[in-house]
Amino acid sequence: MRHENIETNAGLMILLVLVVISIGGLVEIVPLFYINDTIEKVDGVRPYTPLELRGRDIYVREGCYLCHSQQIRPFRDEWLRYGHYSLAAESKYDHPFQWGSKRTGPDLARLGGKYSNEWHVQHLAAPRSVVPESIMPNYPWLLENELDTSDIEGRMRALRITGVPYSVTETEYQANVETYGKEIADMIDVSLASQSLLAQASANDFDGLPGKVTEMEALVAYLQVLGTMVDFSKYDKILLDRITVWYKGDAKYKGIDPTKLKALTDYFHDAIVKALGDAYPVVDTPGPDVLRVRIALTDIVPTKPEITVAMAVIPYATAADVVMGGKSGHSPYLGETAMEGELLDSVTHKQLGAYVDRKLGKKYHYDLSKGTKGIEAGAEGYVDAYSTWGYAKAAFDAWAKGFRERLDAMRGVK
Ligand code: HEC
Repeated sequence: MRHENIETNAGLMILLVLVVISIGGLVEIVPLFYINDTIEKVDGVRPYTPLELRGRDIYVREGCYLCHSQQIRPFRDEWLRYGHYSLAAESKYDHPFQWGSKRTGPDLARLGGKYSNEWHVQHLAAPRSVVPESIMPNYPWLLENELDTSDIEGRMRALRITGVPYSVTETEYQANVETYGKEIADMIDVSLASQSLLAQASANDFDGLPGKVTEMEALVAYLQVLGTMVDFSKYDKILLDRITVWYKGDAKYKGIDPTKLKALTDYFHDAIVKALGDAYPVVDTPGPDVLRVRIALTDIVPTKPEITVAMAVIPYATAADVVMGGKSGHSPYLGETAMEGELLDSVTHKQLGAYVDRKLGKKYHYDLSKGTKGIEAGAEGYVDAYSTWGYAKAAFDAWAKGFRERLDAMRGVK
């Protein structure tokens, strides 16, 4: 059909516009029907207490989200800086969510417990008094304004409609006792809201002003709970499964000498145990504090029958590919190999994290200060190193170290 026919025929145009909009609408709406399957249940996630909820309202009122996100993405740079990536369940009681899209300041998703209450009070009242180079605005009125608690019950009832389990009836209260324990169940009971708000404030004195409940009190209570509901630190022992090796489905030659393969996976196993060190004893039985780790070398593609196993498992730097391809007319590299790790609760088998690395070792072999010369030298060294075990070992050591860092970050060890 010619475009002109559509543009000159209003009826047809309207019909086609409707078709396009319906498709777009369906794409946005259909996933919402499956939202309950998407958000996994995670232990520890609970509704905010009335005081924290009030703090959250102030966070939204002051527009903190305009400069701060609350969503740690599952990338290395993110978890090294902020800690374990955000789980969907962690924001399931946030209405509206505070993921944010702007980071003028740092992400706050795992802020809780990072600083003392005093630090927060001082920082919010006058950021530059603690971080001289800060560009965050002062919020001095938070210490002056008394907290308005008159509408807290109404706020909780409204959130209840969206599915937050604040209790109204005795049955709901009992269900909360079951799920969260009595202390929390009392705090999230709508009829006790004002009472529990004041109790939490006077027990903790977040604003450092005894006898006064300011807006600061609520905001600091909220900031201190961010990212602390799920306990990632309970896993301090490791159950390490045998390392498995997978060929890529369409690999032409699947034969790698099994004794060599075993030497390789054994070395890797030992490297991981070494990197875990005394901090994470390796055990052989599951338990509530035991993290099960499964590691696989995947997508191995040996392209020549005589290829050494060390060559087959090392992933390759693209820069080296180009340089070598230019020199010898073909690229000697084969690999799309990845190392994949999966972290599971050893009792429930719930997946807690996953880790894939496809570009391992790349940065260790170039001396970029020497410009392209450095790359060429790197590429030559690469080929030499790479037909030996040395390179495979260096790569595994580096991966094991990265894995340990990842584990520390997940558990909040700084
Ligand atoms: C104009 C942007 C901006 C706004 C608005 C803003 N902040 Fe910040 N915030 C920053 C910057 C930049 C930093 C980093 C420097 C510093 O620590 O002060 C920061 C740092 C922080 C930190 C320390 C985080 C860490 O991990 O070190 C906290 C907590 C914080 N802000 C809370 C808030 C709260 C609560 C609000 C709303 C009342 C708010 N911010 C509003 C820009 C902003």
